[in-house]
Amino acid sequence: MQPFASTIAKVFYGTLIHSASIKKIEFIKQGLLFIDNQGKIAKLLRNVSQDSVHASLEGVEDDKVVRLSEDQFVIPGFIDTHIHAPQYTFCGNGHDQPLLEWLDTFTFPRESKFADKDYARKLYTKSVARSLRNGTTSACWYATIHLEACKELVQIIQEQGQRAYVGKVNMNQNSPDFLIETTESSLRDTRAFIEYVQDVNTKIDHKPLITPIITPRFAISCNSELLTELGKLAAEYDLPIQSHLCENQNEIGFTMSLFPDSANYTAVYADHGLLNGRSIMAHCVHMKDEELDLMKEKNAGISHCANSNFNLKSGMADVRKMLSKGIKVGLGTDVAGGYSPSILEALRASRTASVARDADTTLLVAELFYLATLGGAHVMELQDTIGNFEVGKEFDAILVNTSTEDSPVDIFDHDDIESKFEKYLFLGDDRNNEQIFVQGKRVRLPGSSAASRK
Ligand code: GUN
Ligand code: FE
Repeated sequence: MQPFASTIAKVFYGTLIHSASIKKIEFIKQGLLFIDNQGKIAKLLRNVSQDSVHASLEGVEDDKVVRLSEDQFVIPGFIDTHIHAPQYTFCGNGHDQPLLEWLDTFTFPRESKFADKDYARKLYTKSVARSLRNGTTSACWYATIHLEACKELVQIIQEQGQRAYVGKVNMNQNSPDFLIETTESSLRDTRAFIEYVQDVNTKIDHKPLITPIITPRFAISCNSELLTELGKLAAEYDLPIQSHLCENQNEIGFTMSLFPDSANYTAVYADHGLLNGRSIMAHCVHMKDEELDLMKEKNAGISHCANSNFNLKSGMADVRKMLSKGIKVGLGTDVAGGYSPSILEALRASRTASVARDADTTLLVAELFYLATLGGAHVMELQDTIGNFEVGKEFDAILVNTSTEDSPVDIFDHDDIESKFEKYLFLGDDRNNEQIFVQGKRVRLPGSSAASRK
């Protein structure tokens, strides 16, 4: 057997912060975190004093050891359970309109440009880099209907080193002429996309980071036949599924007029084989109790997109109720319904929404941090792989520094590591994300703070 030290690629010594559970943030002081050469967490020691650290590092070469300063700590990477890659091009635009009007005037015309794969490469390169540098180490991406552009997105995500679910969007009805498919072409291209990703994954020397995800845009844009066939494809290839659900009242009304045989909007997906433990439903703002119960029964997850829900005036989702029913919940930026590609912004909007809904049942900081990390891992059904620093999981993480040169966070003498961490959550941004890791490998992004610092 190989001696332990020879399998170690990196060690962090200092403060490590993660969710031990939804109610508890664990601050591991004087922690020693060992990452092996597969990118997995091999060992985690707590309270290792300066005097004994040398012995604990026996056999590990010094250049593999990162000694964190008083202003640095390591947290799990953020998980964005809902983001549209083509929509980064109009983040911050169009917030005077509600969902269906916003889709018609902003979203659909801009998404149609991704028929051009060179255009897609250029813009997707920016979308993915922006997401990564904000600390999103795992993302559930929507692309567009265009197969070639979807492949570009996969290549770019792979080049940049993010963990991702990537969906070719399906739309065969109630869509403009310039952004619509036939049932046949939609299914053919979806199958081709799945097989493309599977093929890409056979050509790499590490555990795959990219998974195709079945992505009916929402029930309005897919007829019953397409939804049924997509449910079958998900089962055939054993894939996750993502869509939008109960975002706004006009959307719900239109959906129920299209699918009068289903008991409610959530049931539309269930009735077409699209609601199960690997389903990720975004928004869920206006859910009836029976719909939440159906989500729970099917073990489907919810992507809470508070920033988007404010911007598109959709409303405020009842996350407290979702959690008390035991439903899996994570955070989504929903770029560009949400104007920010940062999960920190999603966390802040989630807090504001929860306070505005009911000040007595506000989401606590520990819960918000959980939703941004381990909660998202549960929604992606990757809780055994990522989400916190349990031994055996893969190391997806952010090395945060609250005192970088251009830090938006000011630190004072009274700030202990707990308060530095909270300040980062509420004031920090990508300028504090000094280094970003996915599966143990440092992500390097041209032009970002994460790359320019050592
Ligand atoms: N529902 C259907 N498509 C979309 C989209 O692109 N963004 C949001 N927020 N909701 C949708
Ligand atoms: Fe969305």
